[in-house]
Amino acid sequence: MNDVLLTLSKSPAARNVLGALKLPIPLPEPLARGDGAWVARPLEGATVVLGGAGKAELLPAITGALAEAGATILVDDDARVAALRDAAQAHARPVRADVADAADARDRIQALVFDATGIETVDGLRAAYEFLHPRVGRLARSGRVVLVGRERASDAGAQANAVRAALVGLAKALAKEIGKKGATANCVAVAPGAEGRLAPVLRWLCDPRSAFVTAQPLAVTARAKLPGGNGKAASTPYVRPLDGKVAIVTGAARGIGRATALALAAEGARVVCLDRAEDSKDTSELARQIGGTALLVDVTAADAPAKILEALGERGVDIVVHNAGITRDKTLARMKPEHWDAVMAVNLAAVVRITDALVPRALRDGGRIVCLSSVSGIAGNVGQTNYAASKAALIGYVDALATQLAPRGITANAIAPGFIETRMTAAIPMMIREAGRRLSALGQGGLPEDVAQAITFLASPGAQGITGSTLRVCGGALIGA
Ligand code: NAI
Repeated sequence: MNDVLLTLSKSPAARNVLGALKLPIPLPEPLARGDGAWVARPLEGATVVLGGAGKAELLPAITGALAEAGATILVDDDARVAALRDAAQAHARPVRADVADAADARDRIQALVFDATGIETVDGLRAAYEFLHPRVGRLARSGRVVLVGRERASDAGAQANAVRAALVGLAKALAKEIGKKGATANCVAVAPGAEGRLAPVLRWLCDPRSAFVTAQPLAVTARAKLPGGNGKAASTPYVRPLDGKVAIVTGAARGIGRATALALAAEGARVVCLDRAEDSKDTSELARQIGGTALLVDVTAADAPAKILEALGERGVDIVVHNAGITRDKTLARMKPEHWDAVMAVNLAAVVRITDALVPRALRDGGRIVCLSSVSGIAGNVGQTNYAASKAALIGYVDALATQLAPRGITANAIAPGFIETRMTAAIPMMIREAGRRLSALGQGGLPEDVAQAITFLASPGAQGITGSTLRVCGGALIGA
């Protein structure tokens, strides 16, 4: 279903007319999204301004990550330029101070990245305000703000933990302020020992491919072992990161599953596209298009795990995306047992049964499991007790799996999409659909490709630091925030 306001917003003439009429219609900003496969320097030509509080120990790593992505690096403080020069020059990028009256200061900023790891007190928090306040107005359309802090820890003291939590609130509120520009704000909490895993996460959050991820806290941890020794983030492949990998996507015939199969294949994965026999035509066409394999199986069938194992063969699988999902909406009082059972069978029981079969026999070390949860599983929704229960279950499931599978370097995460423009959401009554789109920081629905890109990122070698998490791809939806 076409988003009329977004279509109008893309037309300069319509914008002018609405502006002249002074109608109180907030037009959402069309988002700059990456298309095609990942590139080596997604930030080529972009200016990013870095800042930090206190020692800001992660600034050299942050500088290196963004210089490697092609960005022009400015720093908030003259005194830091010399310390960061080497990190940027390693990628043939210069570092300059972001001086208020310099020509650069008039340039649009693509990303503002602040290292808050040195903040331990309430007074110290002011440094975040002082960095952002004079610069947020220069943030470009579809720009990025990323706050990097430390993960909360029982040995850090109550004030330090309060300050670490404060960053999440700051990012969420800022996301709502800058969302009208199509810009996003997120924060990353880095656990001790996981510093080397930050770079790919930061790069992705600054990349156009994360356009619909905003107001989110992400945790980067050392929880999942590095497969095959202590390979550092420096060796992370950024171009065709999934070369040589095998992936399986359930519910691949359309919507988010289809977009995911296309995105994984674009990064080099060979994809097994699974869907029900009635979707044979779409599934087979997709598999042919991406050089993958079609597997026509109902995930709830008793023999589904066996058929999947057979299709994967000796080689096994690296990436498992549990995407197949259904809704059978009724308020609990009116819900028939078959509505409850059908949703549980597809959204949860099949996920557990297939995972149980794949983990010991087919999932390779260093592998990835991604489950499609939902914002409904976080916030609940009228008429969706069955669906919300099944989707909340997946949040607990990936957390437990992450612990179990960490010694094998396997990560398990959930994605919780907000309002995504698919056949599922096109069926929602008009007023509710409009509310779903507009009640968010970005004021619009996401595309299946937005979710597909988040799944692809979690499936990539660079996401080793993210496990047991639920990442919302929701445009900063107010629901459940
Ligand atoms: P969709 O309805 O467009 O596609 C779902 C696919 O799963 C279909 O191709 C369908 O044939 C397949 N499928 C359903 N039951 C199956 C079974 N028993 N065996 C094999 N395949 C089966 O759905 P959409 O919108 O692409 O959603 C994908 C996932 O994302 C679902 O798990 C959904 O709950 C979740 N999600 C979607 C949101 C949205 O806004 N579209 C929001 C939040 C979560």
